[in-house]
Amino acid sequence: MIKGKFPNDKFEQLETPFYYYDMELLRKTLIAITKETENKPFHVHYALKANFNPIILKEIASFGFGADCVSGNEILRAIECGFDPSKIAFAGVGKTDKEINIGLDNNIFCFNVESIPEIEVINKLAEKKGKIASVALRINPNVDARTHKYITTGLYENKFGINEQDLPKTIQTVKSSPNIKLIGIHFHIGSQITDLTSFEDLCVKVKSIRNWFKQEGIDLPVLNVGGGLGINYQHPNHFPIADFESYFRLFEKYLDLWENQTLHFELGRSVVAPCGSLISRAVFIKEGIKKNFLIIDAGMTDLIRPALYQAFHHIENISSDEEYTPYDVVGPICESSDMFAEQIMLNRSKRGDLIAIRSAGAYGETMVSRYNCRDLPASYFSDTL
Ligand code: LLP
Repeated sequence: MIKGKFPNDKFEQLETPFYYYDMELLRKTLIAITKETENKPFHVHYALKANFNPIILKEIASFGFGADCVSGNEILRAIECGFDPSKIAFAGVGKTDKEINIGLDNNIFCFNVESIPEIEVINKLAEKKGKIASVALRINPNVDARTHKYITTGLYENKFGINEQDLPKTIQTVKSSPNIKLIGIHFHIGSQITDLTSFEDLCVKVKSIRNWFKQEGIDLPVLNVGGGLGINYQHPNHFPIADFESYFRLFEKYLDLWENQTLHFELGRSVVAPCGSLISRAVFIKEGIKKNFLIIDAGMTDLIRPALYQAFHHIENISSDEEYTPYDVVGPICESSDMFAEQIMLNRSKRGDLIAIRSAGAYGETMVSRYNCRDLPASYFSDTL
């Protein structure tokens, strides 16, 4: 089995667990995205929720990407790290007045609005500031992302977006809101989507909704199809970069853009997941009656994805070359769900070995908690370690 390349000698000096980011891989990923989008009317807004570590953000901003933010603090963080406010989209079902004002004060690209009351509030707050807020309507397309239930967002039973049947009412509200400028429509059907036919289904829906707006005499310069492109968690060493070529080509093929129309994407996971690993140490090996447990010093407080979504992460013992042996890999937290993998093959492990949990660059560090009074994991970067 091929393993990832890590600077073990440097790791030996460090307290575990910590996040380690391969900045060269991040740059390769950003170059791959740029190659597929440059010279096209395509704009990528990186979704900060996947990872808002300032070093990572500065690298992404340096490639000229926009940002997709879901809180006032994310907007401030994006700007601090070099993102151009005129490329920031602001999403979220529950934007507070304070957060809307942050968006208005920084003249962001657009608010992705999710309800009629939200339009009314943004209009009022923009009026107070003598500003016009650009908005895109987030529409619930009722398209199945065929991914985990907790990360499916575009079905009628989800809380996100405006339902199609409410569009006529919504347009009326927009028309009677002088401080609102409707610039486009927005969709996001879910995350970790590996079956690209879900995006084809989305395109069919986007085209029919776009036609409806045309019939209403409404021009839509901005089409935003959200994020969601999945990565290969099983084989990070063979497929370190997502299939951006197929992804962008699909939208190009299925969504023939009208003149002056730009297509916007909000990719998070596919940009940052592969470059990050959670590095921990084996604390104890516990021989059970039926199986052996590898107890590591990282827990669900450092990476909650396996406990929350039964998500799979490839795990490697990067200190050992001994024969492969089955283990349950578990953390130290007082919860049975604090488990990273069940009966996976790892090199025979001993106390102190370094264990790498791969593809943890997205929704890893951003979802940490201090449960059990735990320390937060540190982060290190290949450029500076
Ligand atoms: N745009 C919107 C409106 C979103 O809600 C999301 C993610 C994205 C873009 C970025 O999606 P991505 O390209 O990363 O799939 N914590 C979960 C994932 C939650 C995704 C939430 N929304 C996980 O660890 O799998």
